Amino acid sequence: MKKILHITASARGEESASYLLSQQAIARLREQHPEVRVVVRDLHAEPLPHVDNLYANTLGRKQGGTPHAQGRSSLAWSDLLIEELKAADALVIATPMHNFTVPSSLKAWLDHVVRIGVTFNSTSAGKIGTLPDRPVYIAISRGGARDRQPDFLEPYLRAILPTIGLKDLRFID
Ligand SMILES: Cc1cc2nc3c(=O)[nH]c(=O)nc-3n(C[C@H](O)[C@H](O)[C@H](O)COP(=O)(O)O)c2cc1C
Repeated sequence: MKKILHITASARGEESASYLLSQQAIARLREQHPEVRVVVRDLHAEPLPHVDNLYANTLGRKQGGTPHAQGRSSLAWSDLLIEELKAADALVIATPMHNFTVPSSLKAWLDHVVRIGVTFNSTSAGKIGTLPDRPVYIAISRGGARDRQPDFLEPYLRAILPTIGLKDLRFID
């Protein structure tokens, strides 16, 4: 294992519970692979925009459209984030639960990497992922007890990540 992509979705930076939990996973991976490099994608420090008109049109197989008025277009973000994903031998995702599901920062990341014709294909047998599988460690923190509230976070990640080919999911709760 040469490279880990560490995706952090909390607004609480390095004090975040999910971040600290994910650091334990990274420490264990470092023990097994001392040379491993960690690339951080901090979704709070560098927030991703919502998808733009051009990206929505492109994914909907429509011509044209307008990119974000300022900064990188969604297509450019998507290309960059997918390259980052492809280059990693393992993923470590740190995420709090927000309103029973993933924070909007992580949802924005997913909207940019789950891309028809690129990371999955729509076939008569359903959506088939194109990314090679690799371990994905997912550190989750919640404020409330797990059995006293709905959980759309873990089931959502169990559905969306295999859609792009990432099936080896290891939840750390
Ligand atoms: C906007 C928002 C929504 C939240 N929604 C939930 C929730 O639905 N269920 C829950 O158990 N905790 C919820 N929490 C609490 C966080 O999940 C909890 O404090 C968690 O430990 C924070 O993790 P972090 O330190 O990694 O950010 C919410 C927090 C925020 C800021």
